[in-house]
Amino acid sequence: MEFRKLIITEDGSPSLHNEELKESYHSRRGALAESQHVFIKNGFYKINKNNFRIIEFGFGTGLNCLLTLLEAKNQTPMRTIEYVGVEKFPLKASEYYNLWIELNKQVAVDDINPKDFYEKSFEMPVELLSNFLLKNISIDFLKINPEVIGTFDLLYFDCFGAQAQPELWGEDMAKICADVLNTGGVLTTYSSKASFRRALEKNNFQVGKVPGALGKREMMIATKL
Ligand SMILES: C[S@@+](CC[C@H](N)C(=O)[O-])C[C@H]1O[C@@H](n2cnc3c(N)ncnc32)[C@H](O)[C@@H]1O
Repeated sequence: MEFRKLIITEDGSPSLHNEELKESYHSRRGALAESQHVFIKNGFYKINKNNFRIIEFGFGTGLNCLLTLLEAKNQTPMRTIEYVGVEKFPLKASEYYNLWIELNKQVAVDDINPKDFYEKSFEMPVELLSNFLLKNISIDFLKINPEVIGTFDLLYFDCFGAQAQPELWGEDMAKICADVLNTGGVLTTYSSKASFRRALEKNNFQVGKVPGALGKREMMIATKL
């Protein structure tokens, strides 16, 4: 998990490549375009509340968080967001240093301190904006306990693919997803894996499919009933 290399994807936005799992953190065809489509358009904009909680499975580079923060910054009426990232393998300063420079070329984040974003947020909640609070938790997804972290309105399910981590696309994870979401809460993911869809349905989700990012045929949006 520790061998991560900075890559620049086809739309110019940065991502990381995990050399051990041979997995990229985003689509090589465009990290920014993929995140915008899967998590902002088909996640953030599905929530009709002004005050809500988001949980991300796989904080990684923080790109999904930054794009969400930009929406929170620019939207009227103002929406207040509490964002909790779950990440077992947080980035070290040597890994995020150059990544942050590249991210700044794509998303204007220079008023945020990267040390607060990638390190302090794992120790305590960090107020990135008056209406945006970030907290990160360094644990295994399979050990998430809603009694400790509470429940959420939106889940960005951004784990590595099932070919690399099949244990994250089974019944156990589907149950954890159901447990961390409020009734009416939404899970969005780049995947359309049929066995995960069935596992979600068994756990009280209504699952819909929409066109995926960058020409990908389908992705899933699931609502907790
Ligand atoms: C696809 S990447 C996430 C990309 C991220 N959302 C971004 O925008 O950069 C998957 C993430 O899951 C993390 N991860 C892998 N296995 C995990 C586990 N069992 N528990 C918690 N995090 C895990 C990886 O370290 C990686 O950051």
